[in-house]
Amino acid sequence: MTVTVSLINMKGGVGKTTLAFNLAWYAAWQANLRVLAVDLDPQSNLSQYFMGAEKYVEHLKASRPTVVEVFEQFSAPNLSGGSAKPLIAENIVHHLHAWDDDSLLDLVPARLELAWTLKNPTEKAQLLPQFLSKISHKYDLILIDCPPTESILTTAAYRSSRFVTVPVRPEFLATIGLPLLARSLDEFRLMHQDQTLEMAGIIFNGLRRSNTPPEQTQSLADVESLASKHGWPVFNEIAHHSDSYPSGSRQGDPIFRTDYARDYVKDEFSEVAERFLNTVGAK
Ligand SMILES: Nc1ncnc2c1ncn2[C@@H]1O[C@H](COP(=O)(O)OP(=O)(O)OP(=O)(O)O)[C@@H](O)[C@H]1O
Ligand SMILES: [Mg+2]
Repeated sequence: MTVTVSLINMKGGVGKTTLAFNLAWYAAWQANLRVLAVDLDPQSNLSQYFMGAEKYVEHLKASRPTVVEVFEQFSAPNLSGGSAKPLIAENIVHHLHAWDDDSLLDLVPARLELAWTLKNPTEKAQLLPQFLSKISHKYDLILIDCPPTESILTTAAYRSSRFVTVPVRPEFLATIGLPLLARSLDEFRLMHQDQTLEMAGIIFNGLRRSNTPPEQTQSLADVESLASKHGWPVFNEIAHHSDSYPSGSRQGDPIFRTDYARDYVKDEFSEVAERFLNTVGAK
């Protein structure tokens, strides 16, 4: 059984992409799962983390497929210049790593032109789950990195997912995106009663390990109280602030494969990842 999980928060810069990148790597490399990461943000940070800036630019220059083709398969703009061809789902997947028959790490990259889909969104949300259903048998876990604003792309992510998980950076106004998220989930569930979409939980990311500023402590309490109001679980396991996250992402390495991240940072991330995989039933 494949489980699909969207990382979402209507607030920007909370660690959705960083966690998607590290969790996907962890699930494939440490937990021996077959993993597909889907970049659903026109900013394409996840694609750049996985492929590295140079290879990503080559990918774009060569007009190789991205998630844009999933949404724009029947309409202009046609990035390859020719007339619309039938979509071969496998061709859109960019293969990253395979270690043995069991573990695999693949990516559906994004590109900035995904923003076109936002301009002409009619009926397009269904195209992502249709595309994923053609290839999902190859994977144990599919992780979707969402953009920070609600749109057709969010609906497409929900429509494809069994779970959502919500990275939260404890800081001033941390709770600001959460009521919006609650409303967006409620609305989606009302409109799609045929589908089960569960909240896997809130993952705190970027908390200062020592000398925690008072606004961070306050925001932990605010988020927990809001979460309990909605019946959302909050992970006890926390990904604390560490400069190894941005450095690792820049170099294309999850923190547990860097030689500079401290052992306690790696161990702590493993605890977050194990809790995540267990919660969504991927292990
Ligand atoms: N635990 C952490 N410790 C230190 N830096 C972090 C941590 N998590 C994320 N960052 C950094 O914070 C910035 C924002 O993180 P990220 O891009 O993952 O957030 P996001 O929610 O995906 O943002 P957006 O809403 O723009 O898509 C990045 O520069 C990232 O490297
Ligand atoms: Mg992001």
